[in-house]
Amino acid sequence: MMNMLTVCFAAALSLDTASVSLVFDRVEDKAWRMPYVGPRLRAPTDVLALEGGAVRWHGDTSHPSYGVYGAPLMSMDIDKFGGLAVRHADGALVSDLVSLEATEPMDEDGVRHLVLRMKDRRMPFFVDQHFRADEASDVIETWLEIRHEESAPVELLRMDSFAWSMPRIARTYSLRSLSSWWGCEGQLVATPLAKSQTLTINSRNGVRGAWDANPAFMLSLDETSEDSGRVFAGVLAWSGAWRMDFRRDWGDVVEIRAGADNGNGAYRLEPGRVLTTPVFAFTYTEQGFGQVSRNFHRWARTRWLPHRTRPREVLLNSWEGSYLAFDEKTLTSMMDGVAEMGGEMFVVDDGWFGEGPTARDHNAGDRSKEGVCDSALGDWVVNRRKLPRGLGYLASEAARRGLKFGIWIEPEMVSVGKSALHARLPDCPLRVRGRPMLVGRGGTQTVLDFTNPKVVDDLYTQLDALYSTPGVRYVKWDANANIFNPGSSWLSPESQGNIWFDYTRGVYDLMGRLLRAHPEIVTQACSSGGGRMDYGTLRFCDEFWPSDNTDARERVFIQWGASQFYPASAMACHVTVSPNHQTRRVTPLKFRFDVAMSGRLGFELHPKDMSPEDVAFAKECVADYKRLRDVIQGGSLHRLVAPQGSSFASLMYVADDRAKAVVFVWGLNRGPNREFPALLRLKGLDPHRRYQVREINRWGDAGPHVAAVGKTVSGEALMRFGVEPVLSVGDYDSCVLELTSERKEN
Ligand code: DGJ
Repeated sequence: MMNMLTVCFAAALSLDTASVSLVFDRVEDKAWRMPYVGPRLRAPTDVLALEGGAVRWHGDTSHPSYGVYGAPLMSMDIDKFGGLAVRHADGALVSDLVSLEATEPMDEDGVRHLVLRMKDRRMPFFVDQHFRADEASDVIETWLEIRHEESAPVELLRMDSFAWSMPRIARTYSLRSLSSWWGCEGQLVATPLAKSQTLTINSRNGVRGAWDANPAFMLSLDETSEDSGRVFAGVLAWSGAWRMDFRRDWGDVVEIRAGADNGNGAYRLEPGRVLTTPVFAFTYTEQGFGQVSRNFHRWARTRWLPHRTRPREVLLNSWEGSYLAFDEKTLTSMMDGVAEMGGEMFVVDDGWFGEGPTARDHNAGDRSKEGVCDSALGDWVVNRRKLPRGLGYLASEAARRGLKFGIWIEPEMVSVGKSALHARLPDCPLRVRGRPMLVGRGGTQTVLDFTNPKVVDDLYTQLDALYSTPGVRYVKWDANANIFNPGSSWLSPESQGNIWFDYTRGVYDLMGRLLRAHPEIVTQACSSGGGRMDYGTLRFCDEFWPSDNTDARERVFIQWGASQFYPASAMACHVTVSPNHQTRRVTPLKFRFDVAMSGRLGFELHPKDMSPEDVAFAKECVADYKRLRDVIQGGSLHRLVAPQGSSFASLMYVADDRAKAVVFVWGLNRGPNREFPALLRLKGLDPHRRYQVREINRWGDAGPHVAAVGKTVSGEALMRFGVEPVLSVGDYDSCVLELTSERKEN
């Protein structure tokens, strides 16, 4: 890893993945350029000979690999949309990055890593731009390292990870992204980008950074569908405040900027310090939105998630089953239920911690409400009043039933005036000097000052002890507030603008230290539901909680949106009771299983609320899920019919060797003769193999949903003709098909 292969002053370079090429070009004494990101080329640098009008017009600085504010663009203008905007020590607000050498550090097998080094023409201000290209997935990670040796701190007014103007390659552009808020995360939205328009998606929540919008997009170039058309897509691995801008100029050049957002303040960077921007990961395809999703999923599973392809357990989380109102008996009886259904892990949610008068309590006996939730955040020790024998006892009770054990925490928050942490470190919350402190949930909750290493260290000591409890294998990391007091008593008055960025770096520091010390523990990123559905937290957490909205019908849409960018293995999907606690909607248990089994299956209920018939059905579903989870969690996703504007939705997963596939079909609200029967042409199968079709999750003695059940048919016929599930009129009929290939035809 330490070997550096210097490419050194080459005039043109390329970086290739299996299907994508990036071409770079270095013009003496000018910026590095990136004039091409597109289908893989045999002779990539040939594109340089073909550049014509736009380059002539903009001069030889067009399409820099990174655009900075103030760089000369043409003879009569500068770059005013730059992704990096700096106030230098001499007061100058413009920068002009001149290319230095390129280096190619050694990296993992299958990854090519290129570093383009740059320096401001006048000041000792340096930028290294990294590109890590993953051959197999066609995903390229990019980020900057920024440092300087100026005579005083510089101010970074903008510090994007990616700032590129793509060549004029389409006549129409449209942006696909996810709209999100509590209970309605992951809603797919799309909008055209017209000439001379700039579109922005962003979140300034600071903590629940995947709310408002999700840090991910797909930009269609001309006509694009699920399976065809050109798409440039990107995700920003950042859970703090962020921003992405898309600007289409009068001449159809589209500029893309993506990076962390500093609120309204500048980031003050001391001489000698290195600021590393978040990773922006992008991909390009000519096979439509579906291929973008498959590229990101593969990259996540093989390069990004901490436990990569390790199968994820079927778990029961206690929240909707008991809220805060539990004692040891409640929890052990839940364990009995999950073990009986074939589950593999039990997780205790909120309500288990705190000591003495500030311990987390509940309205005894009131199971319909969340409880009080106004104390003990920051005190990660067991509440002995509720759980006298401690967490070790619960973990051993779980183990006795063959279950792993997990625990909920909310480490970034403190209960002001109602926690030992606040008493011990009164300056621990973020707070704007001299102004009233805003508080959230329970009237006491606020965000800790994670820019302060003492606060991070205190949390590390507490959590390291908690994670060391014998038997703990899973942590649900929650975060239920936004940065609403953007002030720090740790940072100097001049550095208050650093809060937004340094907060998230502090969180990642804590997550990273815990992961290194306890590599066997799997973490779920939860943030009032889907506030942490982002690749920043997924560097440290294997999964996210897509939404507190567990209504299966709503989940079809939420999970559909999430699947655009995030893999099934990372998507926690729990079967809950009916009527649903968030929407009061009534749905059949089969429908709830059929929806939850398309991600990482789990439960969020008290098993004693299930009838013996329900438990028997659940047992079969869990057994089938465990048998098929390699395909669901690790296969390639093909979306067949979108739920938006349809009376049913369908998607399927295909194993890498195409020997197995699982097809999900969910009826939504179906009037008579509406799309009856549902026509489904399958995708991703091997046309030369024959597949045996089986229906799983069958309820009682209901007949099969498709005529093909029990038959063996060719992949070709399944993809060209398709299957026709008969979904009954009304709401929420559904089916799951398992396809197993018998032999390969010649
Ligand atoms: C919000 C989460 O989204 C829920 O799943 C639950 O963990 C509660 N917090 C607990 O307070």
